[in-house]
Amino acid sequence: MRNSPFVIPHRVGAVAVLIFILGAISSVLINKSSFGIFVFFQTKPLNMGRVDSSSLSSPDKIITTNIKLTWDVDFTEKSIKGSAILDVKTLEDSVTHLVLDTRSLTIHSVTDFKTGQKLDFNLKEEVKPYGWPLEIKLPTSAQQKGSTAKISVEYATSPNASALAWMEPEQTSGRKHPYLYSQCQAIHARSIVPCQDTPAIKITYQADVTVPHKLTALMSATRLENQLSSRDGAKRIFKFHQTVPIPSYLFAIVVGALESRKIGPRTSIWSEADIVDIAAAEFEDTEKMLVAAESIAGPYNWDQYDLLVLPPSFPFGGMENPCLTFVTPTLLAGDKSLANVIAHEIAHSWTGNLVTNLNWNHFWLNEGHTVFLERKIIAKLNDEQTRHFHAIGGWKDLINSVKEYGEEHEFTKLIPFLEGSDPDDSFSSVPYEKGHTFLFYLETLVGGPEAMDGFLKHYIATFALKSIDTDQWKECFLDYFQKKVPSDAFDGVDWDTWFFKPGMPPVKPDYDTTLADACTELCELWDQASEDDLGGFSKTDIEDFSALQIKEFLGQLLQKDPLPISHILAMDNAYQLSASHNSEIKFKWLELQIKSEHEPVIQPALDFVNIQGRMKFVRPIYRELYAYDKASDKAVANFKEQEKYMHPITRSMVAKDLNLE
Ligand code: BES
Ligand code: ZN
Repeated sequence: MRNSPFVIPHRVGAVAVLIFILGAISSVLINKSSFGIFVFFQTKPLNMGRVDSSSLSSPDKIITTNIKLTWDVDFTEKSIKGSAILDVKTLEDSVTHLVLDTRSLTIHSVTDFKTGQKLDFNLKEEVKPYGWPLEIKLPTSAQQKGSTAKISVEYATSPNASALAWMEPEQTSGRKHPYLYSQCQAIHARSIVPCQDTPAIKITYQADVTVPHKLTALMSATRLENQLSSRDGAKRIFKFHQTVPIPSYLFAIVVGALESRKIGPRTSIWSEADIVDIAAAEFEDTEKMLVAAESIAGPYNWDQYDLLVLPPSFPFGGMENPCLTFVTPTLLAGDKSLANVIAHEIAHSWTGNLVTNLNWNHFWLNEGHTVFLERKIIAKLNDEQTRHFHAIGGWKDLINSVKEYGEEHEFTKLIPFLEGSDPDDSFSSVPYEKGHTFLFYLETLVGGPEAMDGFLKHYIATFALKSIDTDQWKECFLDYFQKKVPSDAFDGVDWDTWFFKPGMPPVKPDYDTTLADACTELCELWDQASEDDLGGFSKTDIEDFSALQIKEFLGQLLQKDPLPISHILAMDNAYQLSASHNSEIKFKWLELQIKSEHEPVIQPALDFVNIQGRMKFVRPIYRELYAYDKASDKAVANFKEQEKYMHPITRSMVAKDLNLE
């Protein structure tokens, strides 16, 4: 029972009434209460007794174990049409209905697959921001505890499905064929499949996907080799299966004119033809990273590890879709300098995809552990100094996120309260970097990197294929170290503050600054320089810097007061930063100029957000231009002009950033 994903609901169910009564009177007490008590005595009742407040389905009553998808991808109507057959299992007696999450789906019919009988269904009113619950009457044979059913839903997606980017041929680099890709995390799977869209449950899936003849379909699954052609030859059918149970946010599909290059025993690169060789070279260390990850985390469980390089509108750096990581083309720097994103997505194969957060409140379990493992992979390929250098950069990202939200903000907590919120709104560096900092801090208490590696292996072996919360993580951690460290090793750990206090963490680890020192020195020189000193700077200052050190130097300058325009001009003259093709350097350099209100930066900054759609870059640039009086109107006008080409998630987030929603 301890490891079951349903520990919280049962407990909460048992004390739900108590919570309501105590919740009202306990707000002061609560913030200081211990973690164990937290589960029972939240300021607000935890998820109103639900496992996952972001899902309208009831995974504590009934669960889906498998989904069979039959999809026809219609580029003309920008719709996926077809069916989803769900295998469900009832967990309690007298469960009369199955509720599925949906968003903007048209439901044609619902059938009991075993008998062929139609089932009554009701697509209820929208519950913002979670979508339209689809309530299906269960066959009587499936209403008692332990019984099962196969339920088939015939449906079609909407052209504005939030998970889907539909692209016209002109928006692709080949310009001949349309392109489609999905992004389901956190709660967008419901816009392409009627499902229990919660990471609390895991399912296997199979899919038959029909696409126009010249296009290739790939999914977050194993592709079965024998594709079929439709009778008239106009279409092709691709078949997939995912035999490892996964949470719904890991559903993924791409359809386009895709090419591939094999770059390792279990890895091919997929992309449009123009960049496939460039990408193959940039990511050639993938197998080395997989081997390093396996040495820390245990065997790789997913057979294939392919990489898909998406069109520039892809909103993230990377997305850990099983068997097929999705990445942004902004990683193609030419010097492998941004490959840590690949290490990160590889790491998710264990932390996230095998051991999964129970709900989005515990997202730090996914991302904090993944950043931690990412940097351990980096250490294996380089050294501990490099690992620390990355952590120093991460600490700055955390400072920036806390500043952006405000240090009292709920979303600066490691475990935020998300009831009623869209998990996309709580997305920031906080779960990543506060989570990483916490694990790094614990590593210093248990005796160093190797001791912590032992825990990581144990943690993954214990919870593989399960969905867990922080309580279970903590118990596992303390159990593992109980006999390995002195009994007072964790006396100084303020668990409560780490988990539930907003703002920066209570401890800043003592990172090795060797690789950052040169960046700090140069930053100080620029910060202190008078006009007369500017002639003393030249490209030799940074000739020994790696791309990441240039990024670090700019990152440090961004923590200082704005540089005078004279300095900006002298810096570009000396270091040719405006000519950099490294997206991270370009981004920081634009930010630095916006901060200095260097007016000529406005157009290049707008160009940057128009040619790529990675939210890590696009959102801060829009926000910073919006806050700069001379650029504000131009930013809004640019958004209005570009929004039709933007990814639906990016469009919606930037609209919020620009106060347009
Ligand atoms: N799983 C995330 C991306 C994500 C998180 C999408 C939440 C939607 C909702 C992915 O693994 C990620 O963290 N990507 C980072 C990589 C970075 C931390 C190295 C990114 O996109 O920048
Ligand atoms: Zn991640």
